[in-house]
Order: sequence, then structure tokens, then C-alpha cells
Amino acid sequence: MSEATTNIIEARNLRKTYRMGRVRVNVLKGVDLSVREGEWLCVLGASGSGKSTMLHLLGGLDRPDRAGADGGGPGSITYGGKDLRKISAGELNRYRNREVGFVFQFYHLLPELRVLENVTIGAMIRHGRFGYRGAAKREAIDSARELLTAFGLADRLRHRPTELSGGERQRVAIARALVNRPRILLADEPTGNLDRVTGESIIETLAETRERLGLTVVMVTHDERIAARAERVVRLRDGVLARDGFAGAATAGGA
Ligand SMILES: Nc1ncnc2c1ncn2[C@@H]1O[C@H](COP(=O)(O)OP(=O)(O)OP(=O)(O)O)[C@@H](O)[C@H]1O
Ligand SMILES: [Mg+2]
Repeated sequence: MSEATTNIIEARNLRKTYRMGRVRVNVLKGVDLSVREGEWLCVLGASGSGKSTMLHLLGGLDRPDRAGADGGGPGSITYGGKDLRKISAGELNRYRNREVGFVFQFYHLLPELRVLENVTIGAMIRHGRFGYRGAAKREAIDSARELLTAFGLADRLRHRPTELSGGERQRVAIARALVNRPRILLADEPTGNLDRVTGESIIETLAETRERLGLTVVMVTHDERIAARAERVVRLRDGVLARDGFAGAATAGGA
């Protein structure tokens, strides 16, 4: 790995505890992770190991604990030199809406909207009800069309999600995640709801898109075969990340 590679996100000592009444669940117990600009990183881990929790923290959708239950100090998530814990609500919003895009297992498309509207909705939200017009609107629609065309969906812009296959729906969801042209794509089991062949085609789409747009991709999966496609694999277990490794090494042994 080149010395010149910069980290786009650095997470240090991330802890996350959920409280359900009197019960405390320590999900993340001090996660350290550096994501390099432009890399394709895969996070493997058993169900319930905290993969989604970690992705939500990285994307600013949720906040880590202030300090460890065991007295360990507070963690940090740094993006572009700034600690996400210390920026204003406005800056955090900007981070969530502009710098990262999210893709989920179950697409989360809005059934009453057409494909094009499902993709531009992020831009609509970003500009607000009264700002989404003129050049801003044209720019979002151009961006959406460009992505949907690259994903083979140019003739589906006016369809509703229910008229699409699972793989097509996931492509729409990926276009939605990218419409604001974020630098980082966070994907939580993007193939988890698809058959093997369709899942592979989604991975292919992600790989091509990452290459074309110079994206950084952090993908969560519990499928070792899918993980093997990434450049680097880390494994979440017992609340911490196993030492960074490359796909071949990390999947060997499986211990
Ligand atoms: N909002 C919440 N409140 C309470 N507990 C939660 C919450 N979200 C997650 N958990 C718990 O935290 C643990 C980790 O959940 P998480 O969803 O991050 O796991 P995961 O690795 O993504 O699992 P899967 O592979 O099944 O998606 C689980 O025990 C879960 O029950
Ligand atoms: Mg999950």
C-alpha cells in the first residue's frame, strides 16, 4: 500500500451501547478503522456483530457513546480532518447528505414515486421544498438520468418500484445514493435480498461505478464470496475489528 494514500475516514475507539430498559448491550467495544480514499473495503461479521451499527456511525446516522462503560475515553470519527462528534448539526447534515450515500438491503424505495423521483428525492431534500427548482432541479435530474442510464435503466424512468425486479430496484437505490455525488458509498448487505446471480450483477455495478466515479466504498456483508471481491476485508467480532487484512488472507481459516 502506497505511503501517499490518504485516509478519507478515520474511526478511533468507537463504542456503541444500546440500552433497553435495564439491559445494556455493548455492541461496539472500541473499533479502530481507517478507510483509504478510493478503496473498496468490506466489513464481514456474523449477524448481530454490529456491522450495521458501525456503518450508521460512519455515515453520521447515529452517534457513538461519549465514553466507554469501562472508563475508556471517547472515540472519534474523523472526516476531512474534522471530528464528526464536534461539528455543528448543519455540518453533520451536510456530511450525511453530500459526502456519503447509503444503500440498504431492502432498497427502501418509495412505492408511490416513479424511478426518476425516487432517485432525485435526495436532491429535493437537500435543496428544500422551495429551493428545488431551476438549475438545482435540472442538475439533479441530469445526475439521476446519467446514473440510471449507466445502470441500464434509461427506459424505466417513469416506472414505479413495484414494476421492477429486485436487481433493478437495487440499482435505483444505488443511483439514489449517488445522485448528490458523494465521495463515499456505504452499503449495508446490498445483495442480501437477491439471488446469487443478481447479487453478483449488483456487485459488478458497484465495482464499475466506483471505478468510474472514483468512489470510496465501504460494504457490509456476511457473504464471504462477496467479500472476496473487495480490495480489503476487515472482520467485526466481539465488538472490535480484527486486524486489517486483504481479502484472501482475511477469509482464510475463518477463525
Ligand atoms: N436500536 C437498537 N436498540 C437496541 N439494540 C439494538 C439496536 N440496534 C441494534 N441493536 C442490537 O445491537 C446488536 C448489533 O446489531 P446490528 O444490526 O448492528 O448487527 P449486524 O451485524 O448488522 O447484524 P445483521 O447481519 O443481522 O444485519 C444486535 O444485538 C442488535 O440486537
Ligand atoms: Mg445489519
